[in-house]
Amino acid sequence: MLFAGRAAAQQVTIPVETQHNAIVLQTDAEKHLNMVYLGAKLANTAEYAGISKMYKQADDSGVQNDAYTPSGSASLGEPAITVTHADGNKSLNLTYVSHTVSKVDDDISLLVVTMKDPAYDFEVKLYYKTYFKEDVTEQWSVIKHNEKGIVTLDKYASANLNLKGNTTGGFWLKQYHGNWAMEMQPEEARLTHGIKTIDSKLGTRANLYEHSMFAISMDKPATEDEGKVLYGAMEWSGNFRIDFELDVANNLKIIAGINNAASEYHLKPGVEFTTPAFLYTYSDHGKGDASRKLQSWARQYKIVDGNGSRLTLLNNWESTYFDFNESKLAGLLKDTKKLGVDLFLLDDGWFGNSHPRNGDNAGLGDWQENKQKLPNGISSLVKEAQANGVKFGIWIEPEMVNPASDLYKAHPDWVIKQPNRPEKYFRNQLVLDLANPKVQDFVFGVVDGLFTKNPDLAYIKWDCNAVIYNAYSAYLKKDQSHIYVDYVNGLYNVLKRVRAKYPKVPLMLCSGGGGRVDYGALQYFTEFWPSDNTDPLERVFIQWEYSFFYPAITSSNHVTDWGKQPIKFRVDVAMMGKMGFDIVIGKLSESELSFCQSALKNYDALKDVIWHGDQYRLASPWDNDAASIMYVSDDKSKAVMFNYLVNNRYGSGTKVPVRLKGLDPNKKYRVKEINLYPGAGSVLGKEDLTFTGDFLMNVGINPGNSAYHTSVVLQLEAI
Ligand code: GLA
Repeated sequence: MLFAGRAAAQQVTIPVETQHNAIVLQTDAEKHLNMVYLGAKLANTAEYAGISKMYKQADDSGVQNDAYTPSGSASLGEPAITVTHADGNKSLNLTYVSHTVSKVDDDISLLVVTMKDPAYDFEVKLYYKTYFKEDVTEQWSVIKHNEKGIVTLDKYASANLNLKGNTTGGFWLKQYHGNWAMEMQPEEARLTHGIKTIDSKLGTRANLYEHSMFAISMDKPATEDEGKVLYGAMEWSGNFRIDFELDVANNLKIIAGINNAASEYHLKPGVEFTTPAFLYTYSDHGKGDASRKLQSWARQYKIVDGNGSRLTLLNNWESTYFDFNESKLAGLLKDTKKLGVDLFLLDDGWFGNSHPRNGDNAGLGDWQENKQKLPNGISSLVKEAQANGVKFGIWIEPEMVNPASDLYKAHPDWVIKQPNRPEKYFRNQLVLDLANPKVQDFVFGVVDGLFTKNPDLAYIKWDCNAVIYNAYSAYLKKDQSHIYVDYVNGLYNVLKRVRAKYPKVPLMLCSGGGGRVDYGALQYFTEFWPSDNTDPLERVFIQWEYSFFYPAITSSNHVTDWGKQPIKFRVDVAMMGKMGFDIVIGKLSESELSFCQSALKNYDALKDVIWHGDQYRLASPWDNDAASIMYVSDDKSKAVMFNYLVNNRYGSGTKVPVRLKGLDPNKKYRVKEINLYPGAGSVLGKEDLTFTGDFLMNVGINPGNSAYHTSVVLQLEAI
């Protein structure tokens, strides 16, 4: 009765629909805005209004379903926002005022809901940007006040989702931890009552130890093709915090945003504080469907040139480290051509004169060519590359400084460090204070200077190898608690300027491997470096896990000397993304070189499918002797299937067929093994085989992985 009465009072119901899904926001009798639904959309939109009646409200226990939980008034769950008003009061109440929906284009809509505190001149606007076809939502908040003085934002999440508990199966969190060379280690477990938090306080390299990307399965862990699953992540390259609170009524509240640890933000009257976006998608067809939605969204809308092309490359990091000179590089440029890749990427070690960069303990900050190694400068290398018919790219780490550098001596106030404590280094270096606009100008100038002096420079690898210790900004003075937030916004300012001037040039996002992979940064980059660990066996697992969230076109995979696998295995694994090499070409045998050259030709023919097609994870390396992954073109006329033996115990291999996915059941496909090592026979026998999509998806194909065929690549073409 009580609820019927409430519904009769001017209740506002706001469905936010995408192609398959809906989020439903609704006001209650006190005009609080609740999130009452997230799931498959209903055929009859009028029924959304009645959803909340199905749940016994837990109002008396103080547990509610606020769409953005304020702190210190009627809701007693984990807050999305906590403030200290100008008068010192810590209580916030938010009530619904109005909302608007606008269409950005055919696919994108924007819902803005305005809420105010009845007792204070304090306002929060919730933004829901939805991508209809992709079922993706980006959600953020804009906070503003007109109080008499500064308001302190103690916590300021981007989004607050409420998932209604309904069966006894509960909620299952899949999360990631890692470290250098062991990125993307997954764990999946049922959430218990109380709060589980994943977070980062590292400042830079924010996801070195934990990643903000997660999946919540409902009722039971979703598989690739079955189950209800929500994928989420922060679009933020700094400290993040995501709370998962399972309340007494078995509802799950997800509060995601910037980590408020040591980060109270002082907000002046009339100034807007915009939180970064929290990104999410939902599927009731399992993790595979959710990933394909995210991958497609990223290509269409987020990464730079997601529908475009990429450059294959030869990198010199592992073949030379810091030890090179012009003549060595001249040889490597010839090797680049000989191998048949598009670009040579000169890595770390090319700069610094009073403090030459001959190791990782000096030179960062001094971005002038080292005169001994490169007496004729970068420009002569760019020209020489051109003379060899290849392009030239270069490594930088412009956010950093070594104490052994001219920059450190010239601008000690640009460096993040505590004035009254000994310096603490990570890889012998410190972080520059990007909260300071002068430092932003300097960092922009590093990139701009390179392109201005070398207009034909074709690629930049942007690294970031240190975390922030002893956070203190000489520039921020009394607002020290702004440092983590202003650092990231400062970094984004620089990247925005870079992109305004150089909209399409390929940039690789690197952070000593995958220490900084998120869509906040990736909107300025074409690709990222998943891990310094390029052992292909490890990469099968690392690339598998990244693929839940990031499309193959963003994954820079290089063939190196890591691991014990033969060159074929290494090349095949690198093919599942943006392919590159970091080996000494001169040390390859004739057959190894010719294998690489022909694999590059195969890659050329298939890269469009790998970069822009749909990805299907067929057999997980975690559960099987062999992992299988495939990519299918939009029109389903071309596909490629990669298969790797990941268990080297006696007798291991693929004994049963692997069912393919995403094909047209009515099309006939010619299946051919490619990337055959010179002299090796195909697992399929002498003849190419032909099957219908129907057969391949219901019976499957046996890729024949065994100790003799550790890596098998099958190409499918509709005939
Ligand atoms: C980081 C990167 C490597 C390489 C080195 C150079 O570790 O991840 O790929 O560029 O820096 O110092």
